Amino acid sequence: MSGALGKHLVLVGFMGAGKSTLGREVAARLGRPFLDVDEEVERAEGPIWELFEQQGEAAFRELEARFLREAAGRREPSVIAVGGGAVETRNLLEDIDGFVVHVHVDADTAWERVQGSRRPLARHEGEFRERYARREPLYEQAADARAEDVDGIVLAAAGVSIGPLTTESVAGPAELVADAHVLELHAPPLDAPFHEVPPGEDAKTVDTAEQLWRELRLDRTGTLVAFGGGCTTDVAGFVAATYLRGVDWIPVPTTLVGQVDAAIGGKTAIDLPEGKNLVGAFHWPARTVIDPGYLTTLPEEQRREGMAEVVKTGLLAGEPYWELPDDELVRRCAAFKAAICLRDPHDHGPRLVLNLGHTFAHALEAAAGFEVSHGRAVALGLLAALRLSGKPTQAVEEILAPEPVPVDRDLAWQALLRDKKAIRGEVRLVLLGEEGGFTTPVAEADVRRALDELIAE
Ligand SMILES: NC(=O)c1ccc[n+]([C@@H]2O[C@H](COP(=O)([O-])OP(=O)(O)OC[C@H]3O[C@@H](n4cnc5c(N)ncnc54)[C@H](O)[C@@H]3O)[C@@H](O)[C@H]2O)c1
Ligand SMILES: [Zn+2]
Repeated sequence: MSGALGKHLVLVGFMGAGKSTLGREVAARLGRPFLDVDEEVERAEGPIWELFEQQGEAAFRELEARFLREAAGRREPSVIAVGGGAVETRNLLEDIDGFVVHVHVDADTAWERVQGSRRPLARHEGEFRERYARREPLYEQAADARAEDVDGIVLAAAGVSIGPLTTESVAGPAELVADAHVLELHAPPLDAPFHEVPPGEDAKTVDTAEQLWRELRLDRTGTLVAFGGGCTTDVAGFVAATYLRGVDWIPVPTTLVGQVDAAIGGKTAIDLPEGKNLVGAFHWPARTVIDPGYLTTLPEEQRREGMAEVVKTGLLAGEPYWELPDDELVRRCAAFKAAICLRDPHDHGPRLVLNLGHTFAHALEAAAGFEVSHGRAVALGLLAALRLSGKPTQAVEEILAPEPVPVDRDLAWQALLRDKKAIRGEVRLVLLGEEGGFTTPVAEADVRRALDELIAE
């Protein structure tokens, strides 16, 4: 399934659901063209209310179907908003190759929004409500997912759902790969044969991958469900990408890092003695199921690891996500990452901005022989990135309280240069501008000064 990856994202729903407004915003977030079928019809044929009056509903439905097929015939994956009545044309939505999201609205809100407009089907409240009741089940039937706002549509498009794993969301036979420690704290999310992996980075080894390859009994129709933190989802995702040349997988992340970062975007990996994440694959999950309820057992230290990525995401989005309660914070951050990854599934460009602060972080981690946690290093890296961007560092200081680390300055600098080859005395970094993150060359001397400020005497 994999949501709308590489496919059209088709929005259906009742009048007043906001398909055009939300569709336009979603298209901008995904970097895709936006097509509004009603608008296309109007551009070519004149106002819809006139068409209705002069030619009747049936003639309009035919036009609508023709314009939708035309829109869906475009090669470039687009966001396509379809008029509320398209579900009444039999098989229309089934015939087009797209991921269909039902943009849901309740009847009262819909009526409030459209009454008094020129819409031909919004003149009598009784009829309006009757039509609503008749159409709702049709939308549900036609749609692959349901959403109510921009983030909801983006998440659906990425195959991400928030809440517990339901048995209907796992097609065919399944096996579970679970973090042994998490299994002591939480019941497995589904009843299936399971394989335990060690907690933490020890799971991301060739040995664990081999053990899983050899233990799995799934055939090509099977699904691997990964239950645990980023380490568990990274190794299980990699095994799913390679076992039988690839089977479906569903991460169910249980850490904040997993829920806002690791389980989203289809990157999977294991480590080698030579370095972290050196072997891996892009393998977009069939779906990702995020239940913030798991976070209640997370130790404070682990939470801080996740908050570093939350603050990074909020800075990129220009919104203080870190101030939100867990459920909302996870949803917003997951949607932000999902949009960027849908836009750039194979890491060819736009995804680079997610590296905000990470060039410095990687250098500090390497210089410390990985004795400094990723979150702590990212907190420092964000500080450096903000300083170089000429932006206030207050949020990072208040939320993450970064402490300079005692590492060798030359080692850290060498590590940074290895990570980012300097070209003509400049290093390319992600900085923060008015519109979010962007990559830009920065003079080596400035980068080194910023790095030095992160290191304790
Ligand atoms: N694939 C990606 O795009 C991506 C992105 C970011 C990070 N990562 C990877 O993720 C890994 C880090 O993930 P992580 O921070 O989730 O660490 P982790 O998976 O090692 O989990 C950290 C610890 O928390 C425990 N734990 C997990 N869920 C818990 C819960 N609900 N309650 C209590 N304890 C719980 C685990 O048992 C473990 O001991 C790194 O290997 C990193 O490379 C991958
Ligand atoms: Zn990170």
